[in-house]
Amino acid sequence: MIRRLLCLLALIAAPALAADALRPPLLLTGARANVQDLSGRWTYSKDLYRTGFTDINGWVAKSRMQRHRDVDVAAEEGKPGPAFFEFDLDRGPAMDIPGAWNSATPELRYFDGLIWFQRRFDAPMKTGQRSFLRFEAVNYRAYVYLNGKEVGRHEGGFTPFVVEVTDTLRAQGNRLVVGVDSKHDADSVPGEITDWDLYGGITRPVKLIQTPATFIDDATLRLNDAGRLVGSLQLNGPQAANRAVNLRIAGLNLTLPARTDANGEARFDVAAPAGLKRWSPDAPTLYDVEFDAGDDKVRDRIGFRTIAVRGSEILLNGQPIFLKGICIHEEEIGPNPARRIDDAAARRLLGEVKNGLHGNYVRLSHYPHNEAMLRAADEIGLLVWSEIPVYWTVNWDNPATLGLARRMQAETIYRDRNRASVVLWSIGNETPVADNRTRFHTALAETVRALDPSRLISAALLVERKGDTIHIADPLLKELDVIAVNTYAGWYGDDTLEAVGKLRWEVPADKPLLFSEFGADAQVGFRDATLRRKFSEDYQADYYRATLAMAAKVPTLRGLSPWVLKDFRSPRREHPVFQNGWNRKGLISETGQRKLAFEVVAEHYKARAK
Ligand code: GCU
Repeated sequence: MIRRLLCLLALIAAPALAADALRPPLLLTGARANVQDLSGRWTYSKDLYRTGFTDINGWVAKSRMQRHRDVDVAAEEGKPGPAFFEFDLDRGPAMDIPGAWNSATPELRYFDGLIWFQRRFDAPMKTGQRSFLRFEAVNYRAYVYLNGKEVGRHEGGFTPFVVEVTDTLRAQGNRLVVGVDSKHDADSVPGEITDWDLYGGITRPVKLIQTPATFIDDATLRLNDAGRLVGSLQLNGPQAANRAVNLRIAGLNLTLPARTDANGEARFDVAAPAGLKRWSPDAPTLYDVEFDAGDDKVRDRIGFRTIAVRGSEILLNGQPIFLKGICIHEEEIGPNPARRIDDAAARRLLGEVKNGLHGNYVRLSHYPHNEAMLRAADEIGLLVWSEIPVYWTVNWDNPATLGLARRMQAETIYRDRNRASVVLWSIGNETPVADNRTRFHTALAETVRALDPSRLISAALLVERKGDTIHIADPLLKELDVIAVNTYAGWYGDDTLEAVGKLRWEVPADKPLLFSEFGADAQVGFRDATLRRKFSEDYQADYYRATLAMAAKVPTLRGLSPWVLKDFRSPRREHPVFQNGWNRKGLISETGQRKLAFEVVAEHYKARAK
């Protein structure tokens, strides 16, 4: 009996314990002092055969090819002797970082492999302080060397990671070398085939962060369903335990002292002040929150709101809401996107949703987006669906792949849990129903619940079709708070648009339903008012009229995110007239030109109730 009880306890505790184990060892979230942005021109060296790691016959690389070495090649070449080199990052070509290499030069357009990047920099040094490098994202594998020493590595193209360099950093002439391998494989997340571009490289900012010996690694605060502000602060360092800390929200005239426990964690739990204004898309109120641990302070701009489901309703701050949205890929508007999303690029994209489409919601597909998008969504008032790239098929039977997906989910949650805009964690997109796939997703759902019980769980599911009836019969449904489906009748397949209007939906009545994707390609400027053929703006507009009319008849539908705001790069789309490497389902072209369908969606959202 005792043994059974212990097993049961282990099973129950497993996700929570496992969740703690999923916390990245270093986070360094929030705004803080002593941050040096290393964006700018980085030199690079292509390494298609990975000779920087291994040489012929799988032998360890020859030193003349090891890009990570802390060596001044030109100076060495000035000396007599037999040594020679077959790389030189000091004299190599350069590109702007952050940004994907595929957009940097024509020769790198479809380069898929290993490229070494280098950044030289000086660093202010103060005795007793600690130094870290924080990478916002490197796609897909990163190998980090500082002054010739390996200091860290990371797998996953869309989440931040931190490496400590206290003992390796020097005041002058640091040589930061990062090997970036864009190759995906059968065990990666996502797998090898996606409907989006390669975008290899250091695609988001890299920062040098210097802190006191004991510092605030992470701090979080939210409004819970009982109307209380709850959160925590985690110190890292020799004086982390039993330390006095303060939480301050000047806008609420609130100062809350607390003390860290033996693990360096302090918890906050206080009734929300009466004057607190809740965050919503219509009133995106954010408060400047300061977490103070004496010689280290961290600030964040946080909105306070609640999100829940009640039967088939989605409740924001206790009120039913309909999500009027659209899907977005991480590409800035322009003819040659490099995944270079700064605040201005984010606001330009999201402005099309908020002001152009009269939307209140975005599905940031199919992976965690640049933090600038989440912060812009907080500021301008858009709800967010956040997704990890468990996309189409991954290796459902490989525990390492599941571990990687769970870690990506954790890295996303720890980065974004202070963002009021994020209301949905999506654990996958269009994965074919099978027992091993459902077990994989169930484990991910448990991870989300253990790490962040305050938000909703969803996934973009495939549907089953029998004649004119569409069913959702997915064993994963019981793990989801919100059901979401991708539906393309009228584009893929042979339905006429008239047939779309006759489609019937058989869906569970006890949960909210979202149409997480629907859409049609159109090349901007291709008008075909008479025949209204596919790839014309006219057909795309007709498709939206028919699909929105069909959607309006689904009783538990609580949100829409058509596929997709903007035409985006995809190597799967090679029609020589209409596509040329672009998926054309955007409501706007890659340069921001609105298509006829844009107004169809905007009018629909304008007419819809809140
Ligand atoms: C799929 C998939 C998208 C893809 C889209 C399309 O549903 O989720 O990533 O781009 O449909 O076919 O255009």
